[in-house]
Amino acid sequence: MPANTQPDPRAFPKEFHFGAATSAYQIEGAVHADGRGLSMWDSFAHNSGRIADGSTGDVACDHYHRMESDVALIQSLGHTAYRFSVAWPRVLPTGRGAVNTRGLDFYDRLVDQLLARGITPYATLYHWDLPLTLHEQGGWLHRDTCRAFADFAEVVARRLGDRVHSYATLNEPRCSATVGYLEGRHAPGLQDRGMALQAAHHLLLAHGLAVPALRAHTRSAQVGVVLDVKPYYAADSGADTAHTVQMADGVFNRWFLDPLFKGHYPQDVWVAEQGHQPLVQDGDLATICQPLDALGLNYYTRGHVVHDATRPFPHARELPVAGASYTTMGWEVFAEGLRQMLVRIHQEYAPQRLYVAENGAALDDSVVDGRVHDPLRVRYLQEHLQACAQALAQGVPLQAWLGWSLMDNYEWGKGYTQRFGLCHVDYATQTRTPKDSALWLRDFIAQHARAR
Ligand code: FCB
Repeated sequence: MPANTQPDPRAFPKEFHFGAATSAYQIEGAVHADGRGLSMWDSFAHNSGRIADGSTGDVACDHYHRMESDVALIQSLGHTAYRFSVAWPRVLPTGRGAVNTRGLDFYDRLVDQLLARGITPYATLYHWDLPLTLHEQGGWLHRDTCRAFADFAEVVARRLGDRVHSYATLNEPRCSATVGYLEGRHAPGLQDRGMALQAAHHLLLAHGLAVPALRAHTRSAQVGVVLDVKPYYAADSGADTAHTVQMADGVFNRWFLDPLFKGHYPQDVWVAEQGHQPLVQDGDLATICQPLDALGLNYYTRGHVVHDATRPFPHARELPVAGASYTTMGWEVFAEGLRQMLVRIHQEYAPQRLYVAENGAALDDSVVDGRVHDPLRVRYLQEHLQACAQALAQGVPLQAWLGWSLMDNYEWGKGYTQRFGLCHVDYATQTRTPKDSALWLRDFIAQHARAR
């Protein structure tokens, strides 16, 4: 795709949503406010020693106290949708039992504010902030957590109901399981392949139990899940690398897509995971494979890999791509991969609708004379929206593009070192400054509105 490709706003249907995403722990702060319980991320950020800058989400963007002005900001950027997550420990401080009404009230007000300003709410129920009490009782390694999650989903749906346009049960179960239980870079910081696969299975099961719980209290709201997806490319032409590419795709993408949409784990990876396979009870896969209204995809980059026998399964080593641009996360900018994943998932799994739930770039941004010049992010948005336009032209039922993120925020293990926002955040003053990319997107959304 040529680097200067400009997307055509007319390529997007009239009702297409453009907006941004955030998650609770990354922006809210106020970790002790109004009866919020602790999550495993509070504990990990404070105690693990694994956060790049030693920081925590205690204050983050202080969004909990600035929600109304943040929603006004979203409106000023012209966004027509906003994806947020509901902090489980705000609503159920110990993960189950009595509802903390003040915590739930916050999301009620957020949704009302969004609707009053013409912004369509997309809500995610689990964006990694497992209540600490549940973690201490075994967390995602423990089957009971699945039922607790479904009960939490029910509490939220009973209150927010159809005012939320689209519910996602989980954000990136792959990341929760792999980065949290295998790589140990995220909470809870474990490093065990079998545990990671068991956690993944329980996350999927939790999703499957939550879907009917959500449907029981909604009529028109969409119910779905958000997955992170990544296409893999061979960086050499060897047969070993071809096999590694297939397995890496299986571990990253198919391990989650297949059970959710086909009701089984991918056989090739299941066999290769011999000795680490999760405990699966009769009926689990039927529970996991629920009809969904929408599938959200988080897309950032591709994998460009060779086989390396010294690496753990799937024996993949990433190689840099000559001439490519990289973000400060070290992620290659590769918009074609987004088009490819959208088309492939549409063809192979046929979800009723798709939306891009996250997509964006971390860059070294700074405010100069009240402006943030981020030409690389402007180009990133243009190329990725162009990829969406191409997918639409190929028949993909894509309903929204939501950028990551509304504003710079707490980037998990990287702390505050990565700036993904459309708006810059000065953490000392909590000043939000829309970057050039946010202004470009605002104009693009306005053109879209005029063109339709
Ligand atoms: C995704 C997460 C999101 C953010 C981006 C950069 O994996 O869902 O919270 O950290 O990566």
